[in-house]
Amino acid sequence: MCGIVGYIGARQAQGVLVSGLAKLEYRGYDSAGVAILDHGSIQVRKKAGKLANLGAELAEHPLAGTLGIGHTRWATHGLPNDTNAHPHATEDGRIVIIHNGIIENYLSLKAELRARGHEFKSETDSEVLAHLIEEKYAQTGSDLYEAVRLSLGEVRGAYGIVVTHADHREIVAARTVSPLVMGVGEGEMFLASDVPALLPYTRRMVFLHDGDMVVLSDSGYRVTDLQGRAVTRQIDQIDWDAEAAEKGGFDTYMLKEIYEQPTALTNTLIGRLNDDSGEVNLDINLDPSSFKRISIIACGTAYLAGLVGEYLIEQLARIPVEVDVASEYRYRDPLVSEHTLAIVISQSGETIDTLEALREAKKGGAKTLGVINAKGSSMTRELDDTLYIHAGPEIGVASTKAYTSMVGAMLMLALWLARARGTLSEAQAKELLSAARELPRLVEEALSPQRVAQIKVVAEKYAHARDYLFLGRGVNAPTALEGALKLKEISYIHAEGYAAGEMKHGPIALIDENLPVVVVATQSRLLEKTISNVQEVRARAGKVILLLSDGDTENAQHADDVIYVPRSHEMVSPIVNVVALQLLSYFTATALGKDVDKPRNLAKSVTVE
Ligand code: G6P
Repeated sequence: MCGIVGYIGARQAQGVLVSGLAKLEYRGYDSAGVAILDHGSIQVRKKAGKLANLGAELAEHPLAGTLGIGHTRWATHGLPNDTNAHPHATEDGRIVIIHNGIIENYLSLKAELRARGHEFKSETDSEVLAHLIEEKYAQTGSDLYEAVRLSLGEVRGAYGIVVTHADHREIVAARTVSPLVMGVGEGEMFLASDVPALLPYTRRMVFLHDGDMVVLSDSGYRVTDLQGRAVTRQIDQIDWDAEAAEKGGFDTYMLKEIYEQPTALTNTLIGRLNDDSGEVNLDINLDPSSFKRISIIACGTAYLAGLVGEYLIEQLARIPVEVDVASEYRYRDPLVSEHTLAIVISQSGETIDTLEALREAKKGGAKTLGVINAKGSSMTRELDDTLYIHAGPEIGVASTKAYTSMVGAMLMLALWLARARGTLSEAQAKELLSAARELPRLVEEALSPQRVAQIKVVAEKYAHARDYLFLGRGVNAPTALEGALKLKEISYIHAEGYAAGEMKHGPIALIDENLPVVVVATQSRLLEKTISNVQEVRARAGKVILLLSDGDTENAQHADDVIYVPRSHEMVSPIVNVVALQLLSYFTATALGKDVDKPRNLAKSVTVE
């Protein structure tokens, strides 16, 4: 995702910006740019592609000046070319901005601004901010801070925004959802989307909160909220080394990524769901009413996201769906026609079996759509269209945030298909859309310190079990499979995931007093049936760990241990529920001293058959 750097002080800004952007490369990007103030004018250099391209441009046409902003862009709206790269400037070049996030109402703002005579150079959502601020700047009698503040009052969406004006030796910034951290130096100030960019310069940092605005000058800074009221934020002394900084202070990438899920989900969903109108805008160039069947193809955790997708699409859009592991699909001579939509799901976009399965589907005439995280990956070059999940880079081998974002994307696809096919009324769509929009908040709630501490206790209690069984029904049957997969991947404990109703046809033979059985028993129309399966486990002395919705004290009596999770609409509950299972696996593995980021024998991206 986009990276941001800002500097004001006595050093030449160009070096600070470029070295900071290099430290943010791990976030993923497809273009980069800087803007530097010198003698009352701001010069911009920006280039598509890797930072080296920008570096070459700056080597040829260097920029002098001690105030500047820099950006690495991960394209969302508009191609990754020089024009769409940030920074973006007003027509007169006096106001220059960089932005990380998505402005959801940019189309209506753009139309209004155009009608008032503004000319746009790029296809980005971000450029509206520059023009909007320009108008407010004129209205407020040249008050840059106030102009930014008033502009942000008119935008909906997520932003880390940094603004400069040729007439002001100051930088104005603000954040909502997208991260922003400020570095406090001696007679100099820094901004970045993440700590590693600032470590070479200062270890005194202020982590800005959602809704914070900040004005940086040579002599210091002030923080306010979006209403303009002064806010005090503490300065943290960061003593992380470079590697710890990339982990954001967490012990492992996996834990960091588990905690990134509210943001990742926001980025997956943002700008795509309109719960006022019940519309889903996925920007997919395929005709949703032309398909008679859907094949979902993937590997590993992505395959399990596909199983949730099957449930959601069949329930909501009433189209037959089949889900295959890619390594089977490609060799089973599948039935494909031009009325088939093949959906491949992949974090990396590189998994060889999925790539080959995609080719197989294309050969049969299917239309192909990818649900992909990695921009520009091999699959995206061969797909008819791609729905990016925008989860950001995932480093931990065991997938966490990519999974929840994939399921979020499958939910949006199901809604998109359902609306186009008329299988969902506007009222039903609105209800589901607003449930989906609640997801980042619910996942945040699922990660509250008390809940995490309680899951850790349960994990440690059973950490020495030899086997584990995970059960769930309906849309949460795949949640049980993902819980088992996560546990075996990182703790090496043998774990089986099963549809709860199927337990009596096999795994029931494994049950004795040594077997922990995790049952996803959150609010659903199948809850009573699930509890019957729990009784079958108890009758055979199995240890029952129940995942229950908040407030369900009645069913708690059937459990040896209870993990409460936030209540959510059944159709979105797999995303909320799986978080508890990720944490259960995580704390089991760490209790056993395993290397969770690099589990033995596994690879993050499997590019061999
Ligand atoms: C590997 C990883 C899994 C991942 C699977 C599919 O096995 O260890 O975490 O789910 O590949 O990867 P993809 O990049 O296609 O989602």
